[in-house]
Amino acid sequence: MSDSSVSNNIEINRDQLPNHVAVIMDGNGRWAKNRNLIRTNGHTEGLKRAKEIAKAASDLGLKFITFYVFSTENWKRTKEEVGFLMNLIHTYLLSEFAFCKENGIRVKLLGDRTGLPKNVQEDLNKIEKDTESFTDKLTICLAINYGGRNEIIRGIKKLIANGIDPETITEESISESFDVPELPDVDLLIRTGGEKRLSNFLMWHSAYAELLFKDTLWPDYHKEEFYSDIAEFQKRTRRFGAVPQ
Ligand code: IPE
Ligand code: IPE
Ligand code: MG
Repeated sequence: MSDSSVSNNIEINRDQLPNHVAVIMDGNGRWAKNRNLIRTNGHTEGLKRAKEIAKAASDLGLKFITFYVFSTENWKRTKEEVGFLMNLIHTYLLSEFAFCKENGIRVKLLGDRTGLPKNVQEDLNKIEKDTESFTDKLTICLAINYGGRNEIIRGIKKLIANGIDPETITEESISESFDVPELPDVDLLIRTGGEKRLSNFLMWHSAYAELLFKDTLWPDYHKEEFYSDIAEFQKRTRRFGAVPQ
């Protein structure tokens, strides 16, 4: 494979891909409002973009991509909107993401599954089981009923329940207590929808992430913009606290 390749006229160096891209898919409601549609129409359109970007990530050869689907704070929305979102996941997850099983892509849930409706838990269990052996290509993490603080609390509870000696706690042992223990640090975090905040997403894993805040509303975010965001990431200088030679 050549060092650099062109994806839709955007030059991307395949040897310097971010290992883990995290995406906050924000702006569905405003996208719908701008079109005089109801908010939930924005979520339906947003699902299509999630699929498009997941395929683009796979085509590019990324190893990990995490999508923020539903936060622990999103339960504060109306009963109708929450119900619509859970139903959208239940209705489309297995069919729209069938390409994962066919293309050797692993799917994992990030978040507290016990708080999700039974049918959504069953869908997630099925897609995880069907794809669990696919460890050498892309892993798609779906953050559903996910909160960064909640994940840290659940992880610490697990460590304590396993009788960990406080003296042996390391960054690695904490990372390994999380929902997807092998999930690496986030290299690139993209948030669409114009807000410049993390909204409780991957707080531990994003400690040294490059942040990219885009004004594009999620349903307008297509693969060309994703590729250009990867190219933008490749122009950043990452120092991790050191002074470059
Ligand atoms: C993101 O879009 C999707 C979810 C949080 C489920 P929003 O629904 O937050 O859309 P805006 O931010 O209100 O436009
Ligand atoms: C973050 O978006 C959560 C998801 C995209 C799933 P929100 O719209 O919920 O975030 P806030 O409320 O603007 O912080
Ligand atoms: Mg929002």
